Amino acid sequence: MARRSVLVGSGTCLPERIVTNAELATRIDTSDEWIRTRTGIHQRHLAGENDTCVSLATGAARSALENAGIPASDIDLIIVATSTPDQAFPSVAVRVLGELGISRGYGFDVAAACSGFIYALSIADGLIRAGNARCALVIGSEIYSRILDWEDRGTAVLFGDGAGAVVLRASETDGEDGILVTHLHADGETGDLLYVDGAVGLRDKPGVLRMSGRDVFRHAVAKLASSVDEVLSSCNLQHSDVSWLVPHQANIRIIEGVAKKLDLPMERVVVTVDRHANTSAASIPLALDEARRDGRIRPGDLVLMEALGGGLTWGSALVRF
Ligand code: COA
Repeated sequence: MARRSVLVGSGTCLPERIVTNAELATRIDTSDEWIRTRTGIHQRHLAGENDTCVSLATGAARSALENAGIPASDIDLIIVATSTPDQAFPSVAVRVLGELGISRGYGFDVAAACSGFIYALSIADGLIRAGNARCALVIGSEIYSRILDWEDRGTAVLFGDGAGAVVLRASETDGEDGILVTHLHADGETGDLLYVDGAVGLRDKPGVLRMSGRDVFRHAVAKLASSVDEVLSSCNLQHSDVSWLVPHQANIRIIEGVAKKLDLPMERVVVTVDRHANTSAASIPLALDEARRDGRIRPGDLVLMEALGGGLTWGSALVRF
């Protein structure tokens, strides 16, 4: 019996502070109307002084473990997708192992910007299938508010902070649930369309996010459309087989573009961008957790996830629940 990874839990951790578009407009030359119509964003959660990438990741991990109904001691792998670690090292993942009191197993971070969760999911799935892990936490945790140029209205209004997590468990039983396939892509030639002009550990230059919004938009719609077709056709599945699309939450217009390409009505698309804005690697697990907990995603459903981010990096994953 082939070994596969089954998603058995999910969790969320959002900073308490909610900032509406109207509140942003008191500090930045923008308006609620501009932000809503261009992006679908109404508000975002922003980290407080005491929130860290590790604290949000740990909160999401605890929430996912509770949801899965398993103790932290079952976990032997943690992968954290993040572009905003608190330190160059130790990795956020190893800090979370420490916070959870896990003294065996291993962990590391993955840097693939907004595609980070798909990358991390793919790596965890590979390690589980290969027999290198039995039970993994895959976390997206981001504090983009600390890498934004708050003078740049073209980017400052788009992002939020938060963390989401899933628990994957190895299964060798009969059954069709679990991660069916993941596909990853990157194109280094488009690296200057969306980047941070510094890094953790660079003295005096931690860096802020820079973006050519229109170019990123254009690439996102085209690359995501071909990516979702690629994963479906690799499993001999059709658009009509998809129960739910759980996309990276960057912009409602990009999400609608991919849904249209799939002939999927928006009622079958999980949308959180209105309340969370773009939380980068955290956005897919946050949306997935919401739709699992409110009962939209049910056993047997086929869930398609997709993301594109700085790099450019992009990819998709197909999961049967
Ligand atoms: N409030 C008000 N006006 C704003 C603004 C803001 N927050 N940001 C930009 N503008 C203005 C610009 O200055 C420009 O004004 P001008 O015509 O007088 O020069 C005008 O709005 C149009 O700017 P433009 O950047 O061309 O807007 P757009 O229609 O392309 O929308 C984005 C901008 C960022 C919403 C859009 O390009 C986008 O969603 N791109 C994808 C971004 C993304 O998702 N990135 C993350 C991927 S993981």
